[in-house]
Amino acid sequence: LKREKNAVILAHNYQIGEVQDIADFVGDSLGLSFEAAKTKADVIVFSGVHFMAETAKILSPEKTVLLPDINAGCPMADMIDAEKLKKLKEAHPKAKVLSYVNTTAEVKALTDYCCTSANAVKVVQGALMDEEVIFVPDKYLAAYVSEKTGKEFIVHNGYCPTHAKIISADILKAKEAYPKALALTHPECTPEVNALADEVLSTEGIIRFVKSSPVREFIIATELGIIHRLKKENPEKFFYPASDLAVCPNMKLTTLEKILVSLKERKHEIVLSDEIIEKARGSIERMLEYV
Ligand code: 13P
Ligand code: SF4
Repeated sequence: LKREKNAVILAHNYQIGEVQDIADFVGDSLGLSFEAAKTKADVIVFSGVHFMAETAKILSPEKTVLLPDINAGCPMADMIDAEKLKKLKEAHPKAKVLSYVNTTAEVKALTDYCCTSANAVKVVQGALMDEEVIFVPDKYLAAYVSEKTGKEFIVHNGYCPTHAKIISADILKAKEAYPKALALTHPECTPEVNALADEVLSTEGIIRFVKSSPVREFIIATELGIIHRLKKENPEKFFYPASDLAVCPNMKLTTLEKILVSLKERKHEIVLSDEIIEKARGSIERMLEYV
């Protein structure tokens, strides 16, 4: 069916294992955006959450982009909307807007630069060091980038509810239980958790780090879907979840059955106005210059 429709299945590292296994490409938000921009397929089935499918549509407006479960949203992305961002811009008229890719298309349409957790530091260092910058919506990603670059941002009170469930006591406990293990955390974790990390990395950064490291044991402080790929690609290594609570319910909504229905019935097609696509595109293309 996939061949018949000339479709490609893209999956985020947090998807359930069987969805990752049938995908053509599994990756982080940055890698998935690249794939969406360069694919020659007519149809993109996005196994991820709503803002990811929207980003794919903005980059490839001529393609059909499908989200198998339309309820797969991102609560962090929903913490800022266009109205709130307009107010922030009015309060800081000279500021540039840097938006985490976890934002709606309407927010991206008001944005100068997008970034992901993989390239936020590079985007800031490459383009925004001399500017006043509004950084939305993730206050923890902003704190992480501030620490790396020394730059202060005008921030919004957004955060990822799934990563917020991981607390510093979890890392301390895991380090005590597995003294040889390295603790790998995600920039969406709280600053207290990231302060205890051996490395703070995007999901694909975690995959790459584990593969190239001589170490055999890792404490994983991000959404637990990533452990499927870590185990599959490193069968000789050991992975200890920092917290069993780090499960994003939205990422788990996509199933093989829903992907099948999505392909058969063109469900659920992402539709955006030409105006929003036009306005939002620049911010994502600028992000793709920083790998
Ligand atoms: P990355 O895969 O880009 O690190 O993003 C994590 C995330 O929470 C996506 O929703
Ligand atoms: Fe959003 Fe967090 Fe879920 Fe990612 S893990 S989709 S940031 S709620």
